[in-house]
Amino acid sequence: MTTEATSSRTQDYVARAQKHLWVHNKQEATLDREGELPILERGEGIYLWDVEGRRYIDGLSGLWVTAAGHGREELGEVAKEQMSQLQYVSSFDFATPSGIGLAEKLAAVTPDGIERFYFVNSGSEAIEMAIKMAKQYHFNRGDKKRYKTISRIGSYHGQTAGALSVNAANYTSRVPFEPLMPGALHVPGINCYRCPFEKTYPECDVFCARTIEDRILFEKPETIACIIAEPISNANGNQVPPQKYWQTLRDLCDRYGIILIADEVINGFGRTGKWFGIENFGITPDLMTVAKGLSSGYMPIGAVMAHRRVADAFLGGKDEQFSSGLTFGTHPVSTAVALRNVEIIERERLVENSETLGRHLGELLSGVVERHPIIAEARGIGLYWALEIVKDKATREPFGPADDVGARLTQKFRSRGLLTRAGNLIYIAPPLVINREEVGTIVEIIDESLTELEGEI
Ligand SMILES: Cc1ncc(COP(=O)(O)O)c(C=O)c1O
Repeated sequence: MTTEATSSRTQDYVARAQKHLWVHNKQEATLDREGELPILERGEGIYLWDVEGRRYIDGLSGLWVTAAGHGREELGEVAKEQMSQLQYVSSFDFATPSGIGLAEKLAAVTPDGIERFYFVNSGSEAIEMAIKMAKQYHFNRGDKKRYKTISRIGSYHGQTAGALSVNAANYTSRVPFEPLMPGALHVPGINCYRCPFEKTYPECDVFCARTIEDRILFEKPETIACIIAEPISNANGNQVPPQKYWQTLRDLCDRYGIILIADEVINGFGRTGKWFGIENFGITPDLMTVAKGLSSGYMPIGAVMAHRRVADAFLGGKDEQFSSGLTFGTHPVSTAVALRNVEIIERERLVENSETLGRHLGELLSGVVERHPIIAEARGIGLYWALEIVKDKATREPFGPADDVGARLTQKFRSRGLLTRAGNLIYIAPPLVINREEVGTIVEIIDESLTELEGEI
């Protein structure tokens, strides 16, 4: 438990943060509310410790990031070695063994045909570059009018201007930044719990995917550069689509010459029980974007991973080469750390652990749905789950902002030693190194917290 002396450490840090640290996505004035800004200083495996010495389970792997778990000295050693030997060279003019090694390693673990790897520093940059790659792919082939992107309402793809333009998640404020990228079109996403077309699977025969064709035809196929979507959308509530959904998107892209981009920034590197989320659906995209689990957060890095058929459109002279370069692209330290991280995922069979323990977690969460009147559905695959919270299971009515259910639950989880996010959904995505007993502990904490909340409302 927190003592008075130690809690003043947190207060001191929070006061200093409030003065000068612009905390992402939080209101400055509320930072000093009890429990609003835990100050974390150490991690090991699935656990994090705050400056009071309190231990928490990292129930969200940071932000779906820490695949290989916290506190890996091995990764620290790799970073130190690479920094001491060579910390930086320009990726415009030179390559390093670590960049080449990471590209080779990714070629071995990605779906067949995905063969070329463009390294950036974050998920947003990967999205940005993938959109540009899709546009220049068409341009190089003489198809110069294809500038439009299609993404799905309810999706999240990042914060830089292009990524922000393809976003259409409710919680992301687009309005202050408008006008956004011209030609960024949005179509309904897949949501089998609250279907925008009020249909039911399988009778609907994935109408939500089939109807995208109407939009393509309306806009004219020769203006569409790409369709971008997460294989299993986190922002849209961990909806796991039927295989036919992605097969339909693949068919539409093939029929109309559109580049299909699978955003694997969250799904990639074992999160869904496969190396990549798209492998759950039996198709191969043209481009894939990754970040987060690529380095487990030990260094910032992302990548666009390209199918040979896309990369080939960039063969030729100066005019054909991909017209982009980033000072910190293919960073030697980031690529060295990411390479070892991918080797750890492979060596410790973390993808398989995600698949096996994900199935177990899913079974335990089905019990949570049965036991709790405010939990409507457990959705997920691998170690990538969400519980949908509703006021009324029969009508599917959600709680309103005044109920403050998400914040109250977040605090209840924290006080029991579990860090995760709760809003209208409770997200459960622990590091892939978790064991069976720890999965059980997470579910116990969720159960107890829900029971307490239900007693209050
Ligand atoms: C699916 C998806 N794509 C892209 C991004 C952007 O990644 P980053 O925050 O590293 O820029 C995110 C971030 O959460 C994401 O969830």
